Amino acid sequence: MSTDSKPAGPLGMPMKRKEDPRFLQGKGHYIDDISLPGMLYQALVRSPYPHAEIKSIDISEAMKIPGVTAVITGKDLEAAGLGWLPTFHGFDKQMVLAIGKVLFQYQEVAAVFAETREAAVDGAEAVQVDYAPLPVVADPFTAKTDKVILRPDREAKTNHIYHWEVGDRDATTRALAASPKRIKQRIWFQRCHPAPLEPCGCVAQFDAMGRLQFYVTSQAPHVYRTALTLVTGIPEDKIHVVSPDIGGGFGNKVPVYPGYVCAVVGALKLGRPVKWIETRTENLTSTGFARDYHMDVEIGASAEGRVTALQVSTAADHGAFDAAADPSKYPAGMFGVVSGSYDFAAAHAEVDAYFTNKAPGGIAYRCSFRVTEASFAIERAMDILADELSMDAVELRRKNFVKKDQFPYASRLGFTYDSGDYHKTLDTALEKIGYQTLLKEQAGKRAKGELMGIGVSTFTEVVGAGPSKHFDILGLKMFDSAEIRIHPTGSGFVRAGTKSQGQGHETTWAQIVAEELGLDPQNIMVEEGDTDTAPYGLGTYASRSTPVAGAAVAMAARRVREKAKKIAAHLLEAGEADVEWKDYKFQVKGVPAKSVTMKDVAFAAYTNMAQNEPGLEATYYYDPPNMTFPYGTYIAVVDIDRDTGEVKVRKFLAVDDCGTIINPLVVEGQIHGGLTEGFAIAFMQEIQYDTDGNNLNTNFTDYLLPTSLETPHWDTAKTTTPSPHHPIGAKGVGESPNVGSPAAFVNAVIDALSPLGIRHIDMPVTRDKVWRAIREAEARKRSS
Ligand code: CDP
Repeated sequence: MSTDSKPAGPLGMPMKRKEDPRFLQGKGHYIDDISLPGMLYQALVRSPYPHAEIKSIDISEAMKIPGVTAVITGKDLEAAGLGWLPTFHGFDKQMVLAIGKVLFQYQEVAAVFAETREAAVDGAEAVQVDYAPLPVVADPFTAKTDKVILRPDREAKTNHIYHWEVGDRDATTRALAASPKRIKQRIWFQRCHPAPLEPCGCVAQFDAMGRLQFYVTSQAPHVYRTALTLVTGIPEDKIHVVSPDIGGGFGNKVPVYPGYVCAVVGALKLGRPVKWIETRTENLTSTGFARDYHMDVEIGASAEGRVTALQVSTAADHGAFDAAADPSKYPAGMFGVVSGSYDFAAAHAEVDAYFTNKAPGGIAYRCSFRVTEASFAIERAMDILADELSMDAVELRRKNFVKKDQFPYASRLGFTYDSGDYHKTLDTALEKIGYQTLLKEQAGKRAKGELMGIGVSTFTEVVGAGPSKHFDILGLKMFDSAEIRIHPTGSGFVRAGTKSQGQGHETTWAQIVAEELGLDPQNIMVEEGDTDTAPYGLGTYASRSTPVAGAAVAMAARRVREKAKKIAAHLLEAGEADVEWKDYKFQVKGVPAKSVTMKDVAFAAYTNMAQNEPGLEATYYYDPPNMTFPYGTYIAVVDIDRDTGEVKVRKFLAVDDCGTIINPLVVEGQIHGGLTEGFAIAFMQEIQYDTDGNNLNTNFTDYLLPTSLETPHWDTAKTTTPSPHHPIGAKGVGESPNVGSPAAFVNAVIDALSPLGIRHIDMPVTRDKVWRAIREAEARKRSS
């Protein structure tokens, strides 16, 4: 960690991303850039029905299409023992290709292999499937009691998947009953989709040695290798997984999808490489969606606004298979962070998950496993409580924050928050945005009947999954790793078990190594995504890279330094105990003039190492002692046109605290990107299903992405409260803006509408919904 006396070093330097020249010049190497000799293309036949029996599949017309070489169906896979694949969460399995019936619209039914992409698509269209439609379960609330059992393959003949709970239900019920003030609100975090610009895809090839070379858009390549062994029985040493450059993941590229398994089977069966690149529609309709939590939030408080109890009961729509990519002991992810930044004396949270005829998923879209849902619920509910108490929403928060001296703070819902100073971050934000001036302006506008809103979100996240005693996926503990090799002339490389999909690891991991070893970050090459070379790691998602792999990088560098110290002692002709690492050099204690640099030591490690082991390298597997808890205060200011319902975000300020910052430019980029996603979720994005289970948002004209025209200007600032247990004090940041911002936007809209008596509108807060809410409020007023 930087100290005031130390010269400015690579840590905290706003270094431009080393990967950007490659990307900006169109020289990235993505999955669809891979072309192998003799390669076939795969296209998938997908179901037009959300729930139907498959009476027959006729491939004869497809096989007549020139270039089509083979078609496989669920029955073929079942016969080969490959009919189902385990979901990452570990408690369910998913059909690779439909067997007997389909359970959601666009489910994979058959795979067609052909000489060209076009022939594969034509072949898929020519496969004749005879479906007999079945009754559809599209609503998680009716799924509870529905007579239609969607998953008779499971032992429990019910659409209820699991019940999970944390906290003290009885104490919470008693505290709520005793509270003079109470609010209760159903808050739905709508089903949305990460929609990475590059969809998912793979190329599978069995090489001359019979080894599977699997190139894939994966955020967790090592987990894929293990999962492929578990599904196919191919020994793990005969599988080489490579994730090339990835055009955005956001959690969507964590699960193993049926198309991947089909491509491997096709490559094996046909003895030729197979490429599969999904279309935008396939991505939006069949790969991991996010959220879809219906949360009943209840808060009790004293008349003065001190919160007493929190109860959250959730119905979660998981679709046709339980394919949420959560750690196995956490079926509802980190939802237990739902008490947020507030010191509740009693709290209880529970989640009941249901099968419906919708696409499977529930993945951590730029979110640490359900933290976004939790954060939205508590931040929205605190505003509703403030309204009930006729209290300023900022003052209510200030009154109930966990205080600086309470850290490490044990929440009633099972987490130990590592560090924080919520009051400081809030005050920084209020001052920077001019909160008092905004309040005065708002009062003036309200007097004129104008609708101006100020929305605040003071969220806390839990990121860095995670300590091996609690966290695993498919039994694999969620540590991460790094290997560092320093070359004789003082350059080197670091390999990590993570895989960047836009987070800039090629730059930030190099900065950590450079900081720890006193080397130039420009000469530290970072390599990720190749299971033959990188040490085993659980991958990049849920803001775990910095808390886990970033720590592994720092610890591996310290191991290199330990060894380097022995060689430095030899060079300095001093005892090892008399040598210290100071100001990026080894010095004889108390004699700063007697020093050697890491470059000097690196050269000696290969040329003049005396009795020491030659070479300069180390590997570290880091098992974090705790999660990290980044947080922030976000403030949105909106103006609403009373006649049209149009919401304009006039100002947005994000003050984040992610502990020690490795690279402020990278952090800024992460925050801008995440805020833009949060803005889209708040105002325009939803994967909707009609009551018959048809997906209504299958492309980018129905599922909207914000452009620079709609996107507001982002103002940002930072406070820095290091994590006490992380080697460099850093917490994750990539998820914070997506986690914290939706509540700030919606709170601002509802604040603007509060003079009309409007208390809540579910996201996305579209112009249409706002217009209707205003008209209804006016009608209520007229009739009262
Ligand atoms: O796991 P993921 O890479 O999505 O998220 P992260 O750990 O939040 O890191 C995102 C990027 O921000 C990485 O390049 C980090 O090194 C960088 N970062 C930083 O510079 N300082 C921090 N305190 C946290 C992240």
